[in-house]
Amino acid sequence: MSPIFLSLLLLLFSHSSDSRSIADVPVLSSADAAVDLNSSTFEDFFKKSPADFAIVEFFAHWCPACRNYKLHYEKVARLFNGPGAVHPGIIVMTRVDCADKTNTDLCDRFSVSRYPMLLWGPPIKFAAGRWDPKKQNNEIQSIDDGRTAEDLLNWINKRIGRQLI
Ligand SMILES: *[C@@H]1O[C@H](CO)[C@@H](O)[C@H](O)[C@H]1NC(C)=O
Repeated sequence: MSPIFLSLLLLLFSHSSDSRSIADVPVLSSADAAVDLNSSTFEDFFKKSPADFAIVEFFAHWCPACRNYKLHYEKVARLFNGPGAVHPGIIVMTRVDCADKTNTDLCDRFSVSRYPMLLWGPPIKFAAGRWDPKKQNNEIQSIDDGRTAEDLLNWINKRIGRQLI
């Protein structure tokens, strides 16, 4: 499916008044659009990322809610990441498996308190390697309303003050 067609499809779904939504858009390929990161790749990846913003999903592979969430997260990631992206370069979407022991320290430094947990911020702030929710001024913030693909997209649209889809 061409990116333009996908774009139209999403536009149609998000503006129609019936109950269809971005969540109904079929998954088009089996390759993940979100980038898997771990403790050895995390810092370097964000140092080099040219995107304006980044989202990190902290999850645990054993967590059923995380498995269900993956479909939603991927639907949004496809809009921004990968060869079929309709809005490339703005937001890089990533994930870290906190159930992998090598990532325990990384997840602790980002104050991961539940799964899945989404953080938003400029890539360079993630490269700094920590987040403390009690400190307000470090430009990383928790995405409190991203439970479905549509919720997440709405949150992003609001945050960047632009209607992307
Ligand atoms: C992190 O991911 C990279 C690339 O996928 C992989 O080569 C490496 O072995 C992983 N490192 C750890 C500690 O899991």
